[in-house]
Amino acid sequence: MKKFLLFSLAILCYNNLFCQTLAHERCAAFEKGLNINNWLEEYWNPNWPTETGYSKSDFEDMKTAGISSIRLPIGFSFISDTLPPYDVDTNHVLFQRIDSVVKWTQELNLNLIIDNHHGWFLTNENWRSHKDRFAHLWGIVAKRYKNLDPSHYFFELMNEPPIAFNDLDSLNLLFNTAIDSIRKYTTEHTIIVSPNLGSWGMAFNVYQPLADTNLIYTFHCYDPLDFTHQGFTWHDPYYPTGTAFPTTGDPFYENFLYESWNRIADWKATYNKPLFLGEFGVGSYADQDSRCRWIEFIGDKIDSLHLSWFYWDWAGGFPMFQSNSVAPDSIYDCFKYSLHLYSDTVSGINESISSLFNEVKIYPNPASTTNALSIEVTNTTCFNLIIYDVRGRIIFENNIQGNTTRLKPNFERGIYVAEITSGSRKIFKKMVIK
Ligand code: BGC
Repeated sequence: MKKFLLFSLAILCYNNLFCQTLAHERCAAFEKGLNINNWLEEYWNPNWPTETGYSKSDFEDMKTAGISSIRLPIGFSFISDTLPPYDVDTNHVLFQRIDSVVKWTQELNLNLIIDNHHGWFLTNENWRSHKDRFAHLWGIVAKRYKNLDPSHYFFELMNEPPIAFNDLDSLNLLFNTAIDSIRKYTTEHTIIVSPNLGSWGMAFNVYQPLADTNLIYTFHCYDPLDFTHQGFTWHDPYYPTGTAFPTTGDPFYENFLYESWNRIADWKATYNKPLFLGEFGVGSYADQDSRCRWIEFIGDKIDSLHLSWFYWDWAGGFPMFQSNSVAPDSIYDCFKYSLHLYSDTVSGINESISSLFNEVKIYPNPASTTNALSIEVTNTTCFNLIIYDVRGRIIFENNIQGNTTRLKPNFERGIYVAEITSGSRKIFKKMVIK
């Protein structure tokens, strides 16, 4: 019997159903991360790559907030020749900047992802002419950084493979060629890959893992795009301001948020491959209450799927801090407790808000259209409850005496947000009616 069990486990492990590999461990160790903005890839800036973008003290501030990993977007494409033999300018100041970041992360014991970001204008038609160039670049980068500790330094092949290059077989071929090129220099380093359609969660319904076993997979989430990217003139198409969350925008975009997370959860359960959220963020033009509801929704997903994450950005266009001033007492409370930053606890109101988050229980959740659900707030004698539907409409509002209420909702199936206020403390929690 024992032999049979061991045999069965070996089979399951062989099929990767329950195996925890080194790549899993490394992926889990990313924990909380930040994207270092467009500093080393903003090719549109005439002074690129500027010396003054970030300094070691910024990284120290991040570490103080609880950040353990850095994703560094780099515009490698702009220093690699487009014609054979595809020379890469290794004397370019870009490499000096990368080397500074490597040094700071070593000194501060942070993980670092070397992320090959924008500039690969690939399409289904032209990708073949870039394949060797792409592989050559990765050989140069791997050769240069192969001695960095593989437990802390990672290579991400390509940020958000372009939408115009949506042929998955060709993308996989391009990636496998680059992986072979890296593997000539190191088999120990874990390589990060993502599917077509801009690393979007929606792509995961047909995406299958690649053959190399030392890979980590990544996806991005900015859905609903007309909410998170409202007001940015650089975004094409332009989304006007005024869209709230749960969204009052286009249901077309809104559905992507829920559907892409379903696909991510399914993919994770099906393949048991290491997977993390490499970019997500909500822009400064959305109203702050909606930004809070959105980050709380994402925080909830991250927690329930046990994902490591990298927020975009820090104190830029998608800010976590009031007035973009980086300090423990100026982070928005909802960012702090949704992403568990600054240990989740600072004195005063912040502490009380995060504690309320833990005091509220909604069960069952998901609930059904036919059964009652309970909302309970420990440590209170009364609380105010408002329930919003996904369009931001109030569908229930009441002052509850006591610490529990049972609702027979008769709500339609869908996602709702419960706003719970107890004294001066307020939080938002997601409810699902199936
Ligand atoms: C891009 C940034 C952009 C962010 C949010 C990143 O992948 O490089 O330029 O601000 O996504 O859209």
